Amino acid sequence: MIILGIETTCDETGISLIECENNRLRILKNELASQYKVHNKFGGVVPILAAREHTKNLPILLKKINQDFNLEKIDYLAFSVGPGLLPALIAGKEFVIKLAEKLNKKIIPVDHLSAHWYSVLIKNKSGWQKIKQIDFPTLILIVSGGHTNLYLFENWGKRKKLGQTLDDAAGESLDKAARILNLGYPGGPQIEKMSKLAKKYYMLPKPILNKGYNFSFSGLKTAFSELVKEIKKYQKLNQQTVADLSFSFQKTVFEILIYKIKKAVSEFSPKTIIVAGGVSANQTLRKMIKNVLPNFKIYFPEKTLATDNGVNIALAGYLLVKNKRKVIGASKLDVYQRLP
Ligand code: KG4
Ligand code: ZN
Repeated sequence: MIILGIETTCDETGISLIECENNRLRILKNELASQYKVHNKFGGVVPILAAREHTKNLPILLKKINQDFNLEKIDYLAFSVGPGLLPALIAGKEFVIKLAEKLNKKIIPVDHLSAHWYSVLIKNKSGWQKIKQIDFPTLILIVSGGHTNLYLFENWGKRKKLGQTLDDAAGESLDKAARILNLGYPGGPQIEKMSKLAKKYYMLPKPILNKGYNFSFSGLKTAFSELVKEIKKYQKLNQQTVADLSFSFQKTVFEILIYKIKKAVSEFSPKTIIVAGGVSANQTLRKMIKNVLPNFKIYFPEKTLATDNGVNIALAGYLLVKNKRKVIGASKLDVYQRLP
């Protein structure tokens, strides 16, 4: 089965082609157009510009795939219908509808978050590979620019959401902290880089730490912004201070995430843990989690599959079809800022 995966939920335009059979997969093509240069000067994603970039980039990426692959051979189009930025999703939807009509193919609507958790099952390499099997129950943390969700999965078909962010997502808070420090967008990788140079730790608050499994990062961001203002009153923000502040913010966010993971581990005794989404690309976060749970099998996506891309969407599409989930005609396709 050959699946074309299309990703346009936020600021990455991704189209990938995979071939799958009997729990095996090979990545045939993986095209990605990152928009960070467009959004960098605004310090965050501008939805309408993201949409414009998707409309511009999708045909270019498809052409690259079409150069050495006949699109008629595709079985299904997998498309991430949300959650995401509505203008970006609509731009993707228009492209997918036209393509599905032209090729006369059905569409597999994919939940963007599921694409993140499935991403840990494969490697980003060419050639055939087995899709990994996970031991359940598994505890799943999705940490991205739009989400911070904690789930307990009995199996892939049965899950319970334990908590989610009540305001900013973890990645969003890192992006905002980076903006406060003038580090550019996306902020997560910049904060990670600067943190390595730190020599000092500034204490910051951990909102709603002891209140269940929800998260809250907006109060932390405000406290951080106040701290930076205070420091600026008596000194210029030199590189060392920016490094110290980056480290302090990152450490605080990660300690909050880990606190809730540990709490869920002791309450629900999962057999495995999955941490996925853009922020899971962070090597310090990975080390911190492994250090506090040394005896656990913890799955992270490969760094290049942690952030948004078409391979994750295509893989999720395959797993849905394999489990007999409905595919739809182009006229039925809709997109969602929040999935119903
Ligand atoms: O999953 P993703 O590509 O898009 C969403 O679904 O939101 O995640 C993007 C987020 C951004 O907030 C970005 O700053 C963060 O992931 N991110 C990182 C790293 N790489 C990307 N955060 C921390 N460390 C990184 N290395
Ligand atoms: Zn994502």
